[in-house]
Amino acid sequence: MNRGKCSAGNILVVDDELGMRELLELLLCREGYDVRCAKDGREALDFINSAPFDLVITDIRMQPVNGLELLKQCKAISPRTVVIMISAHASTELAVEAMNEGAYDYFPKPFNNEEILSVVSNALKDRDPRDELAKDREGPLYFGCLIGESPPMQKVYELIQKVAKTSSNVLITGESGTGKELVAKAIHRQSTRRDQPFIPVNCGGVPEALIESELFGYRKGAFTGAATNRKGLVEAAQGGTLFLDEIGELSPVLQVKLLRLVQEKTIRLIGDTADIAVDVRIISATNRDLEKMVVEKTFREDLYYRLNVLPLRLPALRERREDIPILAHYFLTKFAREFGKDIHKLSSYAMDILFNYDFPGNVRELEHILERGVAMESSRMILPDSLTLSLYKRKQQDQSAAPEAIDIPLDGFDLDRHLAEIEKKFLQKALHQTHGTKLKAAQLLGITFRSFRYRLLKYGLATEDELRSAED
Ligand SMILES: Nc1ncnc2c1ncn2[C@@H]1O[C@H](COP(=O)(O)OP(=O)(O)OP(=O)(O)O)[C@@H](O)[C@H]1O
Ligand SMILES: [Mg+2]
Repeated sequence: MNRGKCSAGNILVVDDELGMRELLELLLCREGYDVRCAKDGREALDFINSAPFDLVITDIRMQPVNGLELLKQCKAISPRTVVIMISAHASTELAVEAMNEGAYDYFPKPFNNEEILSVVSNALKDRDPRDELAKDREGPLYFGCLIGESPPMQKVYELIQKVAKTSSNVLITGESGTGKELVAKAIHRQSTRRDQPFIPVNCGGVPEALIESELFGYRKGAFTGAATNRKGLVEAAQGGTLFLDEIGELSPVLQVKLLRLVQEKTIRLIGDTADIAVDVRIISATNRDLEKMVVEKTFREDLYYRLNVLPLRLPALRERREDIPILAHYFLTKFAREFGKDIHKLSSYAMDILFNYDFPGNVRELEHILERGVAMESSRMILPDSLTLSLYKRKQQDQSAAPEAIDIPLDGFDLDRHLAEIEKKFLQKALHQTHGTKLKAAQLLGITFRSFRYRLLKYGLATEDELRSAED
C-alpha cells in the first residue's frame, strides 16, 4: 500500500461482503485515497494497531467483532481516526448509539456513491489540527495522543513501543504535566493487553484505609460499613494494566501490600483468608525522586526495584523547546474550535515569549495558557497581552525579589554598584533568551529600545559601532 505524502488520506474499508469491499475500494481509489480492506472487525483492529488510518468505513453486523465494537476500540487506539458506519439493517437506535460512540456519520445501505464520497472528503477536511501539523514532516509528529517531534520525544515513542511488547513493570518519571498518564495509556494501547481494562489509581491525596479497600477490595463485614463483598481495582484490572499514579505517596503499610502483589501476583481481600491470583501489568508514575526516597528510607528499596524494571523518563518541556510551537499551535486550534473563535495563529512576539518561557507546569501549563489566551483574545491572532504567564511573572518577581545571600557589612555597602551588577545580569539574560535580538530583549524587560541601548553601552555589553551596524 502506498502511504506517500500525495495521498488524499488513508482509508480502511471493513465489510464482510466482498462485493461491498470491492465497490468502496474502487470508488475511493479513484479519488486518490490509499485504501485497505478488512473482512471483519478483528482483522481491522490488527491493521489499526499496526498503523493508524485517517478514516475507517465500517459495516455494523460482522463476526467476530462487530462495527460498533470496532468503532469503540478504534477510538480508544487512535482517537483521531474518523469512523463512518454503513449498515443494511438501518435503525435509528443503532445510528444514535454509533454517534454517541463517536462515529462521524451513518449511512443505510444501499448508499449513494456521490454522497459517501462527499462525506469522506468533508470528514478529512475537518480532521484534527494535529493532522494539519503533520503535513510535510519527516519523523512522527505525534504518537497516540502525544504530540512532539523533538529527539527526546522520538526516544519516548521508541521506548513506548519497546516496553509495550513486554509485560514487565514500568516506572514513568517526569515533572508534573509532562504527560505521564498519556504515556501509560499509550503503552497499554500498544500492548497485547489492549483489549483488557486499563485501571488508573491515584495513590496520593486519599486516606490510606480508603486506598487499601479501593485497591484490594473487601469481604462483607470486614469493617464497619462493609455491607457487601466488593472487588478491588487490582482485580478489576485482571488481564490488563494497573496504572498507579503518584506512587511516591503510598504509605509504608500499602507499600508492603503492593510488594506482595508484585512478587507473588496474588492479593487478599480485606477480611478474607484466601489469596486470589491476579495477572496485571503495573505501570507506576511519580514526579518525586524515588531513588532519593529509597536512600531516605521513605520508599522501600525492594518495591522500587520491582516497579522500576523498565524506567521511562519524560523530558520537561523546557528540555524540548522545539516542540513548544507545535504544541502551542495544536492547543490554539483546539480551543479556537471549542470556543468558536476565528483565531489561527500566535503573533511572533507571543510565540517568542512562549518559546523562552521555562514552563514549570510543562505541557499542562502550556495548555492552560492557550486556553486562557484564546478565551481572552479579541483580535484574530494571539497577542502577548492575552498570555497570562502567571507563574512566569511570579517566577521573575521571585527572582528579582529573592533575598541575595549578602550580608550588609557593618562599615557600609555600595548599593548602586550592587544594583548595577544585577541590572547587567538581566540585560545579558534577556539577550541570551532572545538570541541576541535587542528589540525583543527590550520588550522582555519592559523597557524602551532606547533605554535598552543606553544600558548596553553603559555596561560595556555593546559598543556604539556594534549597535550602529546592527541597526543599519
Ligand atoms: N506530549 C503531549 N502532547 C499532547 N498533550 C500532552 C502531552 N503531554 C501532556 N499533555 C497534556 O497535558 C496535560 C497533562 O498531562 P498528564 O496528565 O499526562 O501529565 P502528568 O505527567 O501525569 O502530570 P501530573 O504529574 O501532574 O499528574 C493533559 O491535558 C495532557 O493531555
Ligand atoms: Mg498524572
